[in-house]
Amino acid sequence: MTNDLNAPPSTDGPDPSDLSSKFDCAGDILGAGGELLAHLHRSGLRFLPHAGADAVSQWTQRLAAAAPSPDAETHADTAPSPSAAATDNPPTSPGPAPAATSTPAATSTPAHAEPPARRFSPVPATVVSSAPYPGAPLPVAEIATSLQTLATDVAACTRCKALANCRSQTVFGEGPPQPRFVFFGEAPGAEEDKSGRPFVGAAGQLLTKMIDAIHLKRDDVYLLNTVKCRPPGNRNPAPDEIANCREYFETQLQLLRPEYIVCLGAVSAQALLQSKLSIGRLRQTFHQYHDSKVLAIYHPAYLLRNPDAKRAAWADLQMLMKDAGLNPSS
Ligand code: URA
Repeated sequence: MTNDLNAPPSTDGPDPSDLSSKFDCAGDILGAGGELLAHLHRSGLRFLPHAGADAVSQWTQRLAAAAPSPDAETHADTAPSPSAAATDNPPTSPGPAPAATSTPAATSTPAHAEPPARRFSPVPATVVSSAPYPGAPLPVAEIATSLQTLATDVAACTRCKALANCRSQTVFGEGPPQPRFVFFGEAPGAEEDKSGRPFVGAAGQLLTKMIDAIHLKRDDVYLLNTVKCRPPGNRNPAPDEIANCREYFETQLQLLRPEYIVCLGAVSAQALLQSKLSIGRLRQTFHQYHDSKVLAIYHPAYLLRNPDAKRAAWADLQMLMKDAGLNPSS
């Protein structure tokens, strides 16, 4: 099999139609592979390296150097380098790290894996709408009933065939019907797909610790995702999948009317703010979505893979604490 990315597809190896018979979601796996190859090609890669340890290390550096500009559309997984994040808007005081987090000093990233540091200028606040949420606020019992009705609609949704065919169940979201804070994630992962609850896997455990660290309780905040079905292989939700789910998450937010929406990662921030800016550009600013203040922070799954970015995430959470008056007694 050739490693030349410009070469026509190889006729060696398994026929994709054979894969379809083995995996229900083979089309999605092949699609994700295609997206990855297209990304590598756009990044300037023309030949795949042989996978020796040295070659992997060399190519890690070369790909990091060829990463898209900070304004390019990015996902939490491809967000700017943690070291750049830390230097983006350095907190005036680093503050204590959340309980589960380690400070950059405590985690050593091998020098060869360090992408180049970049700085980002702050962006002005994005105002999706400065008008109040449409309609009158409902009494709490009616909010709960309306959320339940919406969850039933979501559970029956088949707008995205690929997702509907692969999911075990939809993951609507959970929390009190009149929350002050909403944490808005990307899409369910494997654990969430199994349990039907948001943020119950490893990223969810870190998120729970981050919520504790800002003197809130997980049970007092509402957790929801941009997309209600697990994308196969945990790939990013596609733009048409986000568009199909927009009605659901926007109605959910309109019912909840939180004072603050914390977007976790680029997918939710870009979807809510209708922006293509990276999380590195969107963070450290309060944006506006109707009556809600919106803060974009790194996704906890990204923080698990890039512990150096925890300092930046902590600076963002401190900003939220200060604005919302959160303290140990609140
Ligand atoms: N990641 C998300 O964005 N949402 C979840 O519910 C779990 C992991």
